[in-house]
Amino acid sequence: MPDPNDLVAAAAAVRENAYVPYSRFKVGAALKAADGSVHRGCNVENVAYPEGTCAEAGAIAAMVAAGQTRFAEAAVIADSPVPVTPCGGCRQKLIEFAAPGATITMATTDGKTARMAVADLLPGAFDQAQMDNA
Ligand code: THU
Repeated sequence: MPDPNDLVAAAAAVRENAYVPYSRFKVGAALKAADGSVHRGCNVENVAYPEGTCAEAGAIAAMVAAGQTRFAEAAVIADSPVPVTPCGGCRQKLIEFAAPGATITMATTDGKTARMAVADLLPGAFDQAQMDNA
């Protein structure tokens, strides 16, 4: 089981770069790919609000751009009273790239954490098996 502490620190560092003039809610995310490399993302908002992107989506894009398509461990952090949890859309996005047994650590900037299996983030997630007759 990978130690999530370094990954939470990586997420905390990139969180500082979040562009959040509308929500003022900075989020950082980090993924440890199967080859051990770490990929980071922060939320990037837009004046056209639905065009904003979540930190998790940014980290996934960075990982794929670097040539990695599987992560073993994820971390997400925000200045929230309880550990921040990925939104529904990001749960589907994370599952796409999660290695078997991948875990996610959700953290607050004041040190609270929660950890769970990525596979448990979205029961009933859409998957390729459902397209077999397409
Ligand atoms: N947000 C994330 O980036 N990740 C999460 O896990 C929760 C929400 C962002 C989206 C938006 O920029 C801000 O937090 C408030 O919803």
